[in-house]
Amino acid sequence: MKKVIAVTKGDGIGPEVINEGLKVLRIISDYTDFEFEFKEAPAGGMIYKKFGNNLPKKSFDIIKNADALLFGAVGLPDLPPGTAESAVLKIRQGLDLYVNLRPIKLYDPLKNRCPLKEEFIGKGIDITFIRENTEGLYANKGAVLNENKAENIMVYTRKGCERVIKYAFDYAKKRNHTKVTSVDKANLLKPSQLWRKIFHEIGKNYPSLEKEDIYIDAFCQWLIRAPYKFQTVVTGNMFGDIISDEGAFLIGSLGMASSGNIHPGKVSMYEPIHGSAPDIAGKNIANPIGTILSVKLMMQESFNSMEIALELENAIEKALHEARTVDIQEKHLKTVNTQEMGDLITAKLKELLKK
Ligand code: NAI
Ligand code: MG
Repeated sequence: MKKVIAVTKGDGIGPEVINEGLKVLRIISDYTDFEFEFKEAPAGGMIYKKFGNNLPKKSFDIIKNADALLFGAVGLPDLPPGTAESAVLKIRQGLDLYVNLRPIKLYDPLKNRCPLKEEFIGKGIDITFIRENTEGLYANKGAVLNENKAENIMVYTRKGCERVIKYAFDYAKKRNHTKVTSVDKANLLKPSQLWRKIFHEIGKNYPSLEKEDIYIDAFCQWLIRAPYKFQTVVTGNMFGDIISDEGAFLIGSLGMASSGNIHPGKVSMYEPIHGSAPDIAGKNIANPIGTILSVKLMMQESFNSMEIALELENAIEKALHEARTVDIQEKHLKTVNTQEMGDLITAKLKELLKK
């Protein structure tokens, strides 16, 4: 199976972590039926400085024609905010990537790094947030009308709600989840009322799955009070932005969190959720696992290979038992740099794929 993967390394630690993601993809192509061709598609701050454009047409053409995009992070401290970063939005909008997939899983060896007490962790944290990525308050450009008034308008459409909610139910079914939780503010907001209606309409097609509605404010509380209650959580753009960041910290480090920006059946973008981390760039200490878990998402969502995705996750968990990057350091375990962590994970993956 030949696949073309566009690669945007980006700025700061972007290239450092992406190189480790590429190592993993090379092992997958060496030991399985997959064959990957990588095409660099530069975007972000460095390329802006060269050409005055954070997403040159040539790069976007490469991305558009690829099977998937592996994306580092963009942003440079000496550029005005947004100068590099708007490349991300251009890609999301340009490819209509309406699903933002953000799983959080607390791996056993990192349990002591979770900020929650044991009793709140309960039987463990393994939640997939599915955030609508194109509508709501963020899509409708607002305005400061005058000195005393500013506005944004929250618009949800039936099409926008239906497609992401359907994705969430399908996702839950594929993963053998038993419940889908919808987060909204239907007691106050009209768009949430439409959302909730559509959630239950679509839910009827999935009789084996339990459906649950929770208001966003209550959900924020439940997420730290009983995170083990949740499996698939689907929500709108702004609520998803907020709760997925809250969730990301529960798994031990920002460097561990992965994401996909997805349009099912079309080219989708996989990226760690962290930024370009200028404070640690060039030091070879960044945690590459968020990127490697994004490769896992690429395998399962774009390339339909849950089997390889699970082996990759196993490889990561095995590596976490042996060594740590600085951000998840553990006294009795070896501290390794970015490349060494990538090497360790690829070595574990090789063993697993050989079997
Ligand atoms: P950040 O995520 O880059 O860093 C926040 C903190 O987490 C820093 O202390 C950093 O050292 C640490 N950190 C991040 N990733 C890590 C990793 N893999 N391993 C170990 N530690 C890690 O967020 P910040 O500092 O707010 O933003 C820096 C730049 O990145 C800004 O220009 C921002 O706009 C941009 N950014 C870009 C994103 C993207 O390309 N999708 C997403 C978020 C921020
Ligand atoms: Mg955010």
